[in-house]
Amino acid sequence: MATVIDGKAFAAGLREKIGKAVSEIQSNHGVKPGLTVVLVGEDPASQVYVRSKGKQTVEAGMESTEHKLPADTSEADLLALIDRLNNDDSVNGILVQLPLPDHIDESKVINAISVAKDVDGFHIENVGKLSIGEESLVPCTPAGCVLLLKDHLGDLTGKNAVIVGRSNIVGKPVSMLLLQENCTVTVAHSRTQDLPAVCREADILVAAVGVPELVKGDWVKPGATVIDVGINRIETAEGKTRLVGDVDYAGASEVAGAITPVPGGVGPMTIACLLRNTVIAACRQHGVPVPDGI
Ligand code: GUN
Repeated sequence: MATVIDGKAFAAGLREKIGKAVSEIQSNHGVKPGLTVVLVGEDPASQVYVRSKGKQTVEAGMESTEHKLPADTSEADLLALIDRLNNDDSVNGILVQLPLPDHIDESKVINAISVAKDVDGFHIENVGKLSIGEESLVPCTPAGCVLLLKDHLGDLTGKNAVIVGRSNIVGKPVSMLLLQENCTVTVAHSRTQDLPAVCREADILVAAVGVPELVKGDWVKPGATVIDVGINRIETAEGKTRLVGDVDYAGASEVAGAITPVPGGVGPMTIACLLRNTVIAACRQHGVPVPDGI
């Protein structure tokens, strides 16, 4: 049976290190990192995420502010708020919760955020920097995947990594990060021919497609490390709902060397990496060295 990669415990440990780094920066340099989250509308899942982000930001000793705007907020008003936050020195990180209502141009909003404060790493300039290996702010979920992989496997050099999914939020950035770690990277997607055979070549298999339990046990190479980024709510035979990933966990865990569960795998890493990005952004903005070990 596969080793279970405990993302919940790893994320808790990372948050503790971040908390220590925050108090060190504050006492040595008088800087208290601050994260501002902007939520437009009342999407229930987004409200849950935003609450968690705020709570964990405060627990790490950082300043947390939230701007909750009505669903009918105009694009111009949202852009004006971002402009104010860009110019506010107490704000080191800005996160606009996605998805935005249909009448607002998401890419216009993301690219209006100051590159230095873009703790999601979604700004086109951060995306470009990541792809050419320059210092940038890295998207949180992909960063979390790579931290778990390095913790479990050590050096990733030469590993065959197959990523199923090509989204801008996970698939593409995780492929860039794994290239930087000297993996041989294949990005597979819905049009890939013989997807099971492609997956069977993977030493590292990252599933980020949003299709419940797509990746079956016999798609997994024996001993491979499986990272499941999916969070899908499905209905059970008893009419209840249950969270499952993009991997058939029962089948894959009989073949894999290690696997992340859902929930409790990649999920908790995302907010931990957001806090980490906020500390990194604050340090860079103030010319303070980023503490080791976060
Ligand atoms: N909505 C779902 N995931 C994310 C994320 O990582 N960042 C933002 N801003 N919104 C999201």
